[in-house]
Amino acid sequence: MIKLTINNQDVDLSVEKEMPLLYAIRDELKMTGTKFGCGAGQCGACTVHIDGQAMRSCITPISFAQGKQITTIEGLDENNDHVLQIAWREYKVPQCGYCQSGQIMNAAAMLSNNANPSDDDIDNAMQGNICRCGTYPRIKSAIKKAAQ
Ligand code: FES
Repeated sequence: MIKLTINNQDVDLSVEKEMPLLYAIRDELKMTGTKFGCGAGQCGACTVHIDGQAMRSCITPISFAQGKQITTIEGLDENNDHVLQIAWREYKVPQCGYCQSGQIMNAAAMLSNNANPSDDDIDNAMQGNICRCGTYPRIKSAIKKAAQ
């Protein structure tokens, strides 16, 4: 039995401890905001927070997350009004939208560590989150707006 605390709720799961956290989130807990992109730690679509740090849930075994605070896009703000979500809407950031929850979760972790990021800070923090639609300029604008 694996015990998780996810979005401030305790859950028990009967799964193998090697199961990727992403599978537990999507398939067991039916929270589908966190996306499966590459499944190999390369794209960032599956980004969640574990104890406040951005982590790629596709390559994180569920056992690693046990006893830690996990936050998914569903738990970032109960009204979907995190400052980044507001900025994302204002700048109409998404195109297809698939990567965007991972983008927002990565940006949220960055802002919690660095409330006033420079352009280089944003570029460095976000460079591993891939967007096939090329929404990068709007992502950057939204992050800068959220940081104001
Ligand atoms: Fe996890 Fe691509 S799905 S990094």
